[in-house]
Amino acid sequence: MQHKNRHYQARINGWLESFLHTHYPSSETVASRLMDAIRYSLLAGGKRIRPLLAYATAEAINLPADSVDAIAGSVEMIHAYSLIHDDLPAMDDDDLRRGQPTCHVAFDEATAILAGDALQAMAFEALSQAKTEARVTVKLIRTLARACGVCGMAGGQALDLQSENRRLEVEALNQVHALKTGALISAAMEMVAAMQPHLSSQHKAAVGAFARHFGLAFQIMDDILDVTGDTTTLGKPAGSDERQNKATYPQLLGLSGSANSAADHITHALENLANLPGDTSYLQHISQWVLNRQH
Ligand code: IPE
Ligand code: IPE
Ligand code: MG
Ligand code: MG
Ligand code: MG
Repeated sequence: MQHKNRHYQARINGWLESFLHTHYPSSETVASRLMDAIRYSLLAGGKRIRPLLAYATAEAINLPADSVDAIAGSVEMIHAYSLIHDDLPAMDDDDLRRGQPTCHVAFDEATAILAGDALQAMAFEALSQAKTEARVTVKLIRTLARACGVCGMAGGQALDLQSENRRLEVEALNQVHALKTGALISAAMEMVAAMQPHLSSQHKAAVGAFARHFGLAFQIMDDILDVTGDTTTLGKPAGSDERQNKATYPQLLGLSGSANSAADHITHALENLANLPGDTSYLQHISQWVLNRQH
């Protein structure tokens, strides 16, 4: 299955390159420093887990990969924007991302803020090109908009910042995680489900439930790795959460309690795959991989 990760990573990297090449040719992009910052953060590697989930969901519901490229690409644009802003001095104040200086260190703070802004807009431009009918496209756009706004990523980031120097109950921390990280993961999968006209509402609900549990497990593992990982392997500063005194899973439940909770969420996630009409083996593989990931 490693080859499948590499295959889809190459696919989304190629798609993003081609999108920029087609819609933002250097001859027409006057704000070249801004464009350099966007390219720097969008094309600088990363696991591409959200696109991989989109392609894996497509396999699970019998959709061809090319019907979800625009979804995968738009979600990765939102994700890149969220990371650029997450690293800013006003937020987590981190200087390393994917093994490279963060956008505001490599460029400057104003350029990093604008790169995030522009990537957010670009995501909706990309999504508007999804290969489907207009009615479905509007639905996709609404799903992504809600997932990155007040009731999604941005809202979760606001709660994350408010939680600094405070101890949250597990329920409240789950809400932070579900919004800041889970919402975009859910959107990636739910948008793919919306592309399949033959999918029953039960199957759509199963995709949604898988994504909710997966998203929580993913952020719990991120919190664990912040404690147990080293900066070189992570490609981002280890110990960032403790330095900022964030409310995290390890702080609340300890490392083994957190690991158990992540494993429970993956178990619950997997329970939802049983009846999907296509091949769910790749979704299963990604689920196991999340629990074993080192970065
Ligand atoms: C990091 O996301 C931020 C979170 C929402 C946990 P990833 O772990 O997906 O980061 P990359 O894209 O692989 O660098
Ligand atoms: C970030 O959570 C969630 C986002 C929406 C970007 P973290 O702040 O824990 O992500 P990392 O650890 O910096 O990647
Ligand atoms: Mg953060
Ligand atoms: Mg951070
Ligand atoms: Mg983190």
